Amino acid sequence: MEIRIYKDDVQIGKEAALLFASQILKKRDCVLGMATGSTPLPTYQELVRLHESGMLDFSEVRTFNLDEYVGIDRAREQSYYRFMFDNLFSKINIKPENVHVPHPVSANLSDDCAAYDAAIAEAGGIDLQILGIGHNGHIAFNEPSGVFSSGTHIVELTQSTIEANQRFFERIEDVPKKAMSMGIGSIMKAREILLIATGKQKAQAVKAMLRDAVSPACPASVLQFHHAATVFLDEGAASLL
Ligand code: PGA
Repeated sequence: MEIRIYKDDVQIGKEAALLFASQILKKRDCVLGMATGSTPLPTYQELVRLHESGMLDFSEVRTFNLDEYVGIDRAREQSYYRFMFDNLFSKINIKPENVHVPHPVSANLSDDCAAYDAAIAEAGGIDLQILGIGHNGHIAFNEPSGVFSSGTHIVELTQSTIEANQRFFERIEDVPKKAMSMGIGSIMKAREILLIATGKQKAQAVKAMLRDAVSPACPASVLQFHHAATVFLDEGAASLL
């Protein structure tokens, strides 16, 4: 696993966007795995800048997002679908039909999960997946547990994740308790993975991911087993290494 430490999140955003750009230049119709949260925002801003300056064409690119809340309308600003359009998709020339965000709405949510995995497989799998990391070591909504999850599934959010996500809602009671998330198995199938962590508040999770034994108690630690995983850290997130 390659670990690179940068001064701050702006510099990380520029470097991460270059990885995306080289993937798109190599394969115009590549499949990108996208993440929400604060961490990828500088990367998305840089991708928009590269697009606006005429350097990056998303017209053939396809995307799959990691996760989405259960029970939130896509039009609401807290939905991850809306987040992606507000922060990236509406600002680049990606085709709306090439964008995939989990959409847990069926009577039987496991049908939505199976259909999502099938759509990823049909697209040929994910070429480059971007990840953040939770304070508890989660990736996507794969929370610490006794086993690594495999495919896309419905998860119950932990109290620590609900509290971390409260900042996007008026009241803690409004934070959804469930989400649909790619599994650890789905994430590990990506041909290349970039995990970004910024800020001192992520230092403990980063240390557990990189220095402890691989364990579902820290889901991100599984990346130690990935053949092409890169970790970009700022000085705060790297402070306990
Ligand atoms: P954040 O979330 O980027 O908002 O810190 C990361 C995560 O929980 O995976």
